[in-house]
Amino acid sequence: MRIVVVNGPNLARIGSREPEIYGCASFDRFLDDLRQGYSDVELIYLQSNHEGALIDYLYQAQDEGCVGIILNAGAYTHTSIALLDAIRAIQIPVVEVHLSNIHARESYRHESRIASGCLGVITGFGLDSYRLALEALLAKLQCVNSKE
Ligand code: DQA
Repeated sequence: MRIVVVNGPNLARIGSREPEIYGCASFDRFLDDLRQGYSDVELIYLQSNHEGALIDYLYQAQDEGCVGIILNAGAYTHTSIALLDAIRAIQIPVVEVHLSNIHARESYRHESRIASGCLGVITGFGLDSYRLALEALLAKLQCVNSKE
């Protein structure tokens, strides 16, 4: 079972970027631990600072047989109708995640342009947001498969 984690702009710097907001733990290390904890899942990791590349990753994920996507679109969350359109265009579920609680921050971060196309949103649990998103995706997929 292949699931893709897609990180958007500035998220290659998790661990060193504004640690008081995003924490100081390394994303690569977290991902290694996550992969070990969910050894039956093939977790692919992609990151880009470019909106168009993120859109390409979503289509690529579906075309390559991934069953779900965990997406932290960074600041594009609040601006990108193009990303929303791509999320709506694909048939596999997308969970929106954020390290910080976007609703407890500046007002321009309160709105998500992409949330309406997503299965759900997990925001504010630091790196654990990604694990919670994975759990949510797996529960959803199990539920869908049991009905088939
Ligand atoms: C973020 C929240 C966004 O508002 C911000 O632009 C980011 C990170 C988060 O994970 O908390 O880059 O998506």
